[in-house]
Order: sequence, then structure tokens, then C-alpha cells
Amino acid sequence: MNVSVVGSGYVGTTLAACFADLGHDVTAVDIDKETVERLNAGETTIHEPGLDPMVSAYAGSSLQATTDHAAVADTDLTFLAVGTPARRDGSIDPSGLLAAAEDVGEAIADKDGYHLVVVKSTVLPDVIDDEVIPTLEEASGKTDGEKLGVAVNPEFLREGSAVDDFMSPDKIVIGTDGDGRALDLLAELYQPLISDWDVPTVETGRREAAMIKYANNTFLAAKISLINDLGNICKEFGVDTYEVAEAMGMDDRIGEKFLNSGVGWGGSCFPKDTAALRAAAQTANYDPAMVNAAIEINDVQPQRLLGLIDEHVDVEGKRVAVLGLAFKPGTDDIRGSRAKPVIEGLQDRGADVVAYDPLAADKMAEEFPNIEYADSAAEALDGAHAAAAVTDWPAFAELNTEFDEMANPVVVDGRRIISRREGLTYEGLTW
Ligand code: UDX
Repeated sequence: MNVSVVGSGYVGTTLAACFADLGHDVTAVDIDKETVERLNAGETTIHEPGLDPMVSAYAGSSLQATTDHAAVADTDLTFLAVGTPARRDGSIDPSGLLAAAEDVGEAIADKDGYHLVVVKSTVLPDVIDDEVIPTLEEASGKTDGEKLGVAVNPEFLREGSAVDDFMSPDKIVIGTDGDGRALDLLAELYQPLISDWDVPTVETGRREAAMIKYANNTFLAAKISLINDLGNICKEFGVDTYEVAEAMGMDDRIGEKFLNSGVGWGGSCFPKDTAALRAAAQTANYDPAMVNAAIEINDVQPQRLLGLIDEHVDVEGKRVAVLGLAFKPGTDDIRGSRAKPVIEGLQDRGADVVAYDPLAADKMAEEFPNIEYADSAAEALDGAHAAAAVTDWPAFAELNTEFDEMANPVVVDGRRIISRREGLTYEGLTW
């Protein structure tokens, strides 16, 4: 098929490369000239395993990039994969998405016949009905359900395994409001995945499809927050949450995944999506108690970590090491990273913070230019009066004699990644 993908960020680039790999002809559209030039040269700016080899293999053949939205008119369907940043109150700012919808609408205005637009960006149902569809209709002069089709097809890609997640998803959610042509086009597009991997397809309404994405992420975030809440209780009673969670996970109804208790969740999705869902609920005069609690517990975890440091050391004027800055291992992404409130809390206490991360230091230095960045965990620990482990980089599990160089060997582990050893005062956050 001939597919266009508007937006060449993290999701859009993954989509474009993976659709090319499934055998489709893909046109990637982005307003940023440099992004387009790099894609056409077979390069990306995104750290994602498996993505660069695909982009370089297909660039110039089945994957073409352009800044010109007019190109979408020559394709069978267009994905909108434009970022939807959060506003201060947690609600999302759909202006980039609407600008893209307008450009796409104008591009297909003169197209004879049907064109399908598929919303990939994460937005609440009202944004689709009240803003995206009217924008597309107005710009194209076409009517939804007639010569214009609009479908909602959310993504569930994790950073660091986005390509694998695309190629073998747990489900494909297609919201069409019963538009048979939209359904047929998307079924044909995903056919290689559906037939090769037996991926279940969920055919539903557009509003439901949009909500599934929020509900999915909120459930996962709340699952982690619940194990953290239980973990805080366990810690007060000297109980190891990880042993409790392992047994809980054996219950099929609970499941073993996402029960790693610690300093909480970050990233580009969980913080933003929980906040947007809460903001939307509140505008509808519903106060979502569970969503509120999930967010609140996530805010509490870094404070509890700081509280444990306080129990052992008065950090004012002292060197304190922060191990890990990325929101999870395997990425340089610091969005929503729990390292930020930990650093802020240490700064408030007057500590001299020295941080180490194998990938994310440069990004953190843009937001926190006033702390020291070490080139290794050993360098960060050298002379420190306390250390906090915030990201579960596997290499941190190997740290051993490095702790001997601390001025005061105290470590508070927020991710159960540090190995205990003789002479080290070790505090697990929830164990
Ligand atoms: C998440 C969803 O998994 C994905 O489906 C969605 O499309 C985007 O958001 P991602 O943000 O890449 O993906 O990271 P994920 O691996 O889910 O982890 C999110 C956060 O939760 C990380 O900060 C991680 O450290 C934390 N986490 C995860 C825990 O604290 N405990 C766990 O058991 C699992």
C-alpha cells in the first residue's frame, strides 16, 4: 500500500520504518527540514534499537521523506503522528496536531474519491470529535464518512523496544465508527502482522479507541503506584515488597509484570497521559480518586527516598551521588525522570550533587546546569557522603569496591539494582 505518516518524531519514524519493512511504500512528512534531510539520507536522531538499520535500508526507495504535505494526496491513507505536548494544567495542547490536520485536509481537497486519515497521536475523544474531524472537514471540503474517513489507531510502543512492540503487538486497536472502507484499509495495512503473528484486532468506535490508550497507560501507571503504596507499607513493617510482589504476580489475575516497586514512573507517556485524563475528568466535574492517587504516590516516592537519606546523613554542604538520570535504562530520555525531584530535593537541602548516567547526562545538564556530572559511577561515588540509585542501569548491579571510596558509604536504592556488600549501609526504598 501507499502510506503517508505526518510527524517524524519518535512514534512517526518508528511507524514509517516499520510500515516500509512490512512491504508498503511510505512517505514521511515533517515540517522540520533537517529531520527530512536526515531521513532521506537514511539517518535518524532517535535512540531506538533496530530503527536506524531499517531507515537506512529503505530510505530513497520505499521510504521517502518530504516537508510538502501535498504528497499525502498520492497515498491511500495518512497517519497523524504529531506530538501532543502537555499544558501547565495537565491538559494536552493539540495545536500541532490540528495544524497537521489542516495541512493534510488542504492536500486532499482536490483528490477524487476517498482518503483515510488515521489519528495515531494520543488525544482524548473530544479532541477528535470537536477539533480534529472539523479541521479536516473544513480544510478538505470533504465530509466525514463520505469522501473523508477518520480512524483512531493508538500506539502502545515502549521506548527502547518500539520496533519489537510494533512488529509483535499484544493488540491492534482500530476505531472507525463502523466505516467499512477505513476498516478494510487498516486491516490490509496490518495484514502481515495479523496473519503472521495472530495479533488480535480490536474493532471499536473512535472515542473508545482514543480512550483505550489513556486507560491502558493509566492502568499500568496505577499498577506501579499501587505496588509502591504497598511497598511503602511493607517498608514500615520491615517486609520485602519484592518477595510479596513475586507471589502476587503468580495470581493470573494480577500478573507478574509492572510490579517492580521503587522510585516511581516517568517517561513521555505515563506522566502526560495520567495528567491529561485527570484534567479531562475534572472538566467533566468528576474527580478521579484512583488516578489522583496514582499520581500522588508517584510524587511521594522520590520524597521518601530523600527521607531515607535524611535518616542517615545530614547532606547540607556534602557531596551526594545520584546514580541514573534517564527515566528508565536503555534511553537518554529524561522526560518525567524521577531523578529530577531527587536532585531538586538534594539541592533544597544544600547538598553538592554529583550525577552519573551512561546516556542522559547531556540532556539533564540542559535542565540542571548547576550540578556536577561524573564520567563514571565510580567517579560520582568517590568522596560522596550518600548515594541514591534512581535508574536501574544493569551496570549499577556490578558496583562493588567503588563504594569503598565514599566518604560515608550509604546508598538508598530506588530501583533494587545495587548489590549489598559488607561495609555498605544499604537502604531499599520499599524493601
Ligand atoms: C509506556 C508504555 O509501556 C507504552 O505501552 C506506551 O506506549 C508509552 O508508555 P515507556 O514510557 O517507554 O512505555 O516505558 P515503560 O517501560 O512502560 O516504563 C515506564 C516507567 O515505569 C519507567 O520510569 C519505569 O522505570 C517505570 N516502571 C516500570 C516501574 O517503576 N516499575 C515497573 O514495574 C515497570
